[in-house]
Formats: sequence, structure tokens, C-alpha cells
Amino acid sequence: MLYIETKSKRYPLYLGEEGLTALRSIYQQLQPKPSSVLVISDSVIAPLYMKQVTEALADADIHTYVIPSGEKEKSFENYYAVQTYALEKGMDRRSVIIALGGGVIGDLAGFVAATFMRGIRFIQMPTTLLAHDSAVGGKVAINHPIGKNMIGAFYQPEAVIYHIPFLYTLPEEEWRSGYAEVIKHGVIGDAHLYDWLQKEILSLEDLRGEKLQYALQRAIAVKAKIVAADETESGVRAYLNFGHTLGHAIEAELGYGRMTHGDAVAVGMRFAHLLSERIYGIELARKEFEKWLLGYRYPKLPPELNIERLLLRMKQDKKAELGVIRMVLLKGIADVCVEEVPDVVVLDTLAQFAQTEHL
Ligand SMILES: NC(=O)c1ccc[n+]([C@@H]2O[C@H](COP(=O)([O-])OP(=O)(O)OC[C@H]3O[C@@H](n4cnc5c(N)ncnc54)[C@H](O)[C@@H]3O)[C@@H](O)[C@H]2O)c1
Ligand SMILES: [Zn+2]
Repeated sequence: MLYIETKSKRYPLYLGEEGLTALRSIYQQLQPKPSSVLVISDSVIAPLYMKQVTEALADADIHTYVIPSGEKEKSFENYYAVQTYALEKGMDRRSVIIALGGGVIGDLAGFVAATFMRGIRFIQMPTTLLAHDSAVGGKVAINHPIGKNMIGAFYQPEAVIYHIPFLYTLPEEEWRSGYAEVIKHGVIGDAHLYDWLQKEILSLEDLRGEKLQYALQRAIAVKAKIVAADETESGVRAYLNFGHTLGHAIEAELGYGRMTHGDAVAVGMRFAHLLSERIYGIELARKEFEKWLLGYRYPKLPPELNIERLLLRMKQDKKAELGVIRMVLLKGIADVCVEEVPDVVVLDTLAQFAQTEHL
């Protein structure tokens, strides 16, 4: 069992094939004893795994709530509906929420837990590869039509339970999406993981069994270390944004859901390489990085996107201050910095990037 340490809390993270047993024992050890439990999941995951989870909780007073699957469901309407349901079921301050799902369910259920009766306990049970990122660190949120993750909190769970067998029903595009964040964790914080991925994960199908567990363990360790150093994103936590400034801009410009988050981040990471070489005047084996990523069938920058509009989106990023673009750049593997980059430099590099994408 790994422990996630933050200023506000220390909690266990179980990763392995016995997650249901771990859930039962962690649940039984909760103090004070929970009065009831609400398992929140989505319409794809619930038919697959809800029964196993509720059975693991055996004698608890269990309620379940299922929302439709998809990013657009991380909404105020669903947040409100879950709160109503919890109140109608008589849940109280000693109740516990279990988030059974990917980042959408983890973020939404976590935000319900953070605010129901001013905060009740919750457990993350991530079911996607991407959720190795979202389930650790305590950022919980819902979307507003004006922007993603605009309403939320920092709120740590009681535990994260990663039952690996749950991942095996993921479709290929979700493996690829989540794997981008694994690569990101290697790039920003673990040179050994970075090399290991290049050698061992020749295709996404290699992400199974022990290799999957090893990759997850190393990637989670990077995230955990950063969160331990900076729970509320005043410093190094910004490193987690590597590849995300352009990635978010692409997602927003295309319209959410048109490209997976990880696919957009993969484009963003390749762009960040180019920009890093330019800003620091160094060589970063960029061609090898591109070839490696494209080998997993990550997409190129969609040609229909207009680079001036992408620049505008990057200036509106939550991490930009006073409209100045701040990007995580690389000096080497596991050696990153946050830099303010002038608009003209971003635009010019974007133009170069866009041009070479479709030669
Ligand atoms: N809180 C954070 O720190 C943080 C970090 C990164 C991302 N996020 C958020 O995470 C969300 C994306 O997460 P995601 O990629 O997991 O998306 P998701 O939760 O929508 O899951 C992706 C798809 O896979 C399906 N699915 C989930 N588990 C499955 C399984 N085991 N088998 C088959 N299908 C399954 C879902 O129904 C969905 O259709 C975004 O909203 C993003 O903002 C949050
Ligand atoms: Zn991300």
C-alpha cells in the first residue's frame, strides 16, 4: 500500500488485483463507522462493476446513483441531482461516497462529497487508466458551460483503490488517452519510467498485467510526490500541466469530446518539446519523441484548427495570469520549468509546428 501525503491529509492508495478485498477492509476500518454509503458511477461502468462493489461492502446501508457516461455529464445538473438523491435517502455527515469510474465520476462525486453537508468522506475507485492522474491529488470539480472544471475544490479522499482488473474493458481510445498522462509523468518526473516505457511498451496492448501495474505505480508516484510538495497548486504542481496548455486549447476549439483529453495532451507535449528547444536553444531528441508518440497512433494537430484562435484559447487558460501564457517547458527528461512565453513566440512556433505536422 502506497500512501499519499498532503498537508491536509495522509491516505492509502491500493493498486493491484485484490481491490475489492482492499475496499472491504478499508471500508470496515473507517472511523467513525459510516452510517450509509452512496456509490456513484456512470452508465457504462455500473452494469459492468457495480454489483461487485456493492457486494464487497456487504452489510452496509448502500445506495447507488448512475449518471450517463461522458464529459458533458460532469455538470451542475447532475451534481444537484446527486445531492437531492443523497438528501432524500437520508444520508448524513457520517455517510460515505464511493466514486466508481473514470475522471468524470471521480471529479463529480468528489465535489459532491466536498460539499454535501459541508463535506463527507469519500473513496476513489478509478476505472480508467487516465484516472491514475485524476484520482490522486484531491482536485474535484464540475464543468460550467463557460469552461471546464470551473467550479470545484481541493478535497482529499479517504483512500484510492485501483482494482486493475476493472481496466480491462476499456476501449482502445481510452487506453491511449490515459497513457498520455503516464508518458507525461515520465517526462516531468521520472527518467527511469520514461526509458522503461520506450523499451517495454511497444504498443498499447503491452499495457497489461505486471507491466501495467509497474507503469501505474511509477506514474502515480510522480503525481503523489508533486502533490505532497504542493497540495494547492502554488508551485511545482504546475508541472502537471505539461502538454496541457495547447492540449486544453485544442479540446476547447474542437468542442469537448471530439478528441480525447490524452490525445490532445499528446499533441501539446510534442509542441512543448519544440517550444522548449526554441526557448532554451537546446536539442531534446524531439524527432525520436515524435516518432515514439505517433507510433501509438496519437493524432497530429487537426489541420482545420486556426492557430490565432488556439493562441487566444491559450491566453484564457486558468493557469495564464493577466493573459500572459505560462507553459511548462523542458530542459531535459525530469527537468522542467514554468516559463512565461510571449505571444509572438508562441504564435510563430505554432505556425512552424502546424506546417511540419502535415508535410
Ligand atoms: N482531478 C484531476 O486532477 C484531474 C486530472 C486529470 C483529468 N481530470 C478529469 O478527468 C476527466 C477525464 O477522465 P477519463 O478519461 O477517465 O474520462 P471518463 O470518466 O469519461 O471515462 C472515459 C470513458 O470510459 C468509460 N469507462 C470508464 N471506465 C471504464 C471501464 N473500466 N471499462 C469500460 N469503459 C469505461 C466511461 O464511461 C467513459 O465513456 C475529465 O473531466 C478531466 O477534467 C481530472
Ligand atoms: Zn490531463
